[in-house]
Amino acid sequence: MPALVLLGAQWGDEGKGKATDLLGGSVDYVVRYQGGNNAGHTVVVGDQKYALHLLPSGILSPGCVPVIGNGVVVDPSVLLSELSGLNERGVDTSRLLLSGNAHLITPYHTEVDKVTERFLGKRKIGTTGRGIGPAYADKINRVGIRVQDLFDESILTQKVEAALDFKNQVLAKLYNRRAVRTEQIVEELLGYADELRGYVADTTLILNNAVDEGKVVLFEGGQGTLLDVDHGTYPFVTSSNPTAGGACTGAGVGPTKISRVIGILKAYTTRVGAGPFPTELLDADGESLREIGGERGVTTGRDRRCGWFDAVIARYATRVNGLTDFFLTKLDVLTGWERIPVCVGYEIEGRRTDELPFSQSDFHHAKPVYEFLPGWSEDITKAKSFSDLPKNAQGYVKALEEMSGAPISAIGVGPGRDETIQINPFL
Ligand code: GDP
Ligand code: IMO
Ligand code: MG
Repeated sequence: MPALVLLGAQWGDEGKGKATDLLGGSVDYVVRYQGGNNAGHTVVVGDQKYALHLLPSGILSPGCVPVIGNGVVVDPSVLLSELSGLNERGVDTSRLLLSGNAHLITPYHTEVDKVTERFLGKRKIGTTGRGIGPAYADKINRVGIRVQDLFDESILTQKVEAALDFKNQVLAKLYNRRAVRTEQIVEELLGYADELRGYVADTTLILNNAVDEGKVVLFEGGQGTLLDVDHGTYPFVTSSNPTAGGACTGAGVGPTKISRVIGILKAYTTRVGAGPFPTELLDADGESLREIGGERGVTTGRDRRCGWFDAVIARYATRVNGLTDFFLTKLDVLTGWERIPVCVGYEIEGRRTDELPFSQSDFHHAKPVYEFLPGWSEDITKAKSFSDLPKNAQGYVKALEEMSGAPISAIGVGPGRDETIQINPFL
């Protein structure tokens, strides 16, 4: 059972951090393969709560090597402060490996992210403002700065100069901002070099060797399937590929090496930022889901938009990721509703569809078609096996499984490591 991918099946914040942490004890490597510090992964261990942004959740499991792959965009100041924050809490971070091919987020990327959003006005994406989109844009435009450039001052200066040539025109002439000086950026970036040097490694080689030796490698996605730049609700997406294929490009491991793809699926739906969301609730039920589920962003502190479970999206996630299993999270949050609506299809201009429409305009007009499942009122947070769940909670899980196209192999009934019902082992 060498390589597994664990990714978000909805719009992010499904509970990936908890799921990764849960497996961490039996895994040799946990690898982030895309995104950056736009992610906010919460892990609760005993009475300790950790919010991880850039570091793979495996960092909290002694014996597990956390890896930041080439597909990640790295803000070096955030990385170093996240590492020192964990060190202060007694977490050993010395095992971290960082790909020399990962691209850097620099202060001009964050600046461009914020200023672009401001100028988009009401058409804004609602990004996290962490410079993610501009850093990936530079990567694709071949004017990005990579981790390895930190160790060659002359190359670094040339590359920053080339990147700023164009960017300063945009900042000054289009957005009326002050131009950024090359020397200032180079000096700041060089200041991180010594501290980062010891982590940098040929991660692709190490991971391929690990898989070949039968070690267990877990790829941890950031964001979620519907935020994928190719398969999500474009343009209201992030600028990378959280979907399963992204694990291959973002870590340099071929698809033939991956044996299992686990989709993390919340028992209802949330979204942060702008964009279509058919089952969104703008009423008291939405407010209750937000309150009971604690649905506030880990990265930006924004309230998450909340809605009922959407089986069309779950089926779509199964399809585009080739999911082998689901980990259903936050079932406990639904305790107390007399009946729970579940979206089984959409109605678009009078026509019923059971698939995610490929046209953006159609998706914007999609109205959810609901089935109503009976709820439960018993506390389920102490449940240790499927049979401990009340009959109606069992029925809800079984119904979701049937609608979603892959077996539900684990169920979250609380935020803690031990508040999980394992139905089929992942390893
Ligand atoms: P991620 O970005 O996918 O890692 O998810 P976040 O950490 O942003 O949001 C998930 C939130 O739900 C966190 O506060 C978790 O501690 C919490 N959580 C995860 N699984 C469960 C669960 O099964 N039940 C409850 N009540 N909370 C959970
Ligand atoms: P985790 O890993 C939820 C959303 C932003 C915005 C869009 C683009 O915790 O699930 P970006 O800054 O990436 O350019 O913003 O994507 N977004 C997330 N939403 N969870 C996340 O990460 C997210 N990362 C980005 O809110 O709508
Ligand atoms: Mg999150």
